[in-house]
Amino acid sequence: MTDNRKARLAAVIKRVREISLAQIDMVPAASLELVLHPDFRPLRWHLGHIGMFEDWWILQQAAGLSPTDARLSQIYSTEYPRSELGNLPPIEEAIAFSAAVRDRVLDFLDRADLDAGDPLLRDGYIFRNVITHEYQHTETFAYQMQMVDLGLDLQDPLTESQPLPARREVRVTGGEYPLGRLRDEAHFSYDNEWPRHKVLLKDYSLDEYPVTNGEYLEFVEAGGYARRELWSRAGWAWRESANAQQPLYWREQDGSMQQKTILGSLPLPRTHPLMLVSWFEAEAYANFRGKRLPTEAEWEVAASWDPQQGRQLTYPWGDDAPTAERAQYGDPWGWTVPAGEFLNRSPLGLYDMTGNIWEWTSTPFDGYPGFEAFPYREYSQVWFDGLHRIARGGSFATQAPMLRATFRNWFYPRTRERFIGIRLARDC
Ligand code: AVJ
Ligand code: FE
Repeated sequence: MTDNRKARLAAVIKRVREISLAQIDMVPAASLELVLHPDFRPLRWHLGHIGMFEDWWILQQAAGLSPTDARLSQIYSTEYPRSELGNLPPIEEAIAFSAAVRDRVLDFLDRADLDAGDPLLRDGYIFRNVITHEYQHTETFAYQMQMVDLGLDLQDPLTESQPLPARREVRVTGGEYPLGRLRDEAHFSYDNEWPRHKVLLKDYSLDEYPVTNGEYLEFVEAGGYARRELWSRAGWAWRESANAQQPLYWREQDGSMQQKTILGSLPLPRTHPLMLVSWFEAEAYANFRGKRLPTEAEWEVAASWDPQQGRQLTYPWGDDAPTAERAQYGDPWGWTVPAGEFLNRSPLGLYDMTGNIWEWTSTPFDGYPGFEAFPYREYSQVWFDGLHRIARGGSFATQAPMLRATFRNWFYPRTRERFIGIRLARDC
């Protein structure tokens, strides 16, 4: 039993590093150096940072060992001043550091007691936490891969579905529903998903599919970005300061809309879900359609509640792990597929809740009632500042450990650089 758990952990922890290193390989060396966007650190920082995190949590905190390299740990901590990030050590040093940490970690895993009382080690919690941390950074890395010219050859143009999926609404009956996860379940989850608690929802409707690029183009062409009445006060202030006229990666060329992707510039794929929009754009679009964004509770219930069994499922399709047949996920150098492509209908009738794109909700990030930080305040609690909005569901670049229906992601509403789109809701 114990050996089995350890073998699985060792296999996954090796796999995630292969992805991180493959990403580094895809980016021209010069682009690894740059601050590509003020909200992000240079790409080569990420590899040192995941080593630092792994060193601190597994070797120092759980194993009680000394740091692998105290100097590098300091440089790659999130407290290191951003103004110094132009002078990072060479990428080779970051790679070697993270590899050295990993060697010691695998060594410790071999002799760690996963049944001890230490909550960091029990069932390998801290190993899973570290793996998930690195997986999350591969998606942050992917956000920036699209800001770089990777020189990839476009072999396969994106497929479009014919015809556009019908826009239908699913009605959800109000009542008391569970939200979040129990802490002591066998699978990994974060402190911000705990404790499972009850929420009271009114009747609501949620769109069967996320908003497509084609639908959002109608908003752009209807002058949506110039119609003050569609934007909130904060949204309009953002729109003006960003001078936003359309989604960040859209370009008009010879009378037709193009989208910049990591595969190059393509005709806007109209049946694909819209993404790479700020929360403010999502809010204005919802107003344009006379609808609203769902709350995160409405989103989670629609994704996972099974009325037949009277319980939440882990994923829209059930409790079995994600597979390539069920959802578009786990490909940091991939892209979207047409909305509703996959057979991942939730019991309440929603498509595409998992994978393809994240979806903005109206809810600010906060702790659930009874929240307790574990293992540290900096993962969740320091972001309970009322300034971040919740996104749900995972994108094509998100890895499996973030795809369960209770997983919560959070971003500043101004961000336009993430694989986040929109699904509309309304009262009924
Ligand atoms: C959960 C994606 C908002 O990237 O800021 C990475 C994840 N936390 N390292 C982030 C995270 C610490 C976090 N998000
Ligand atoms: Fe991190």
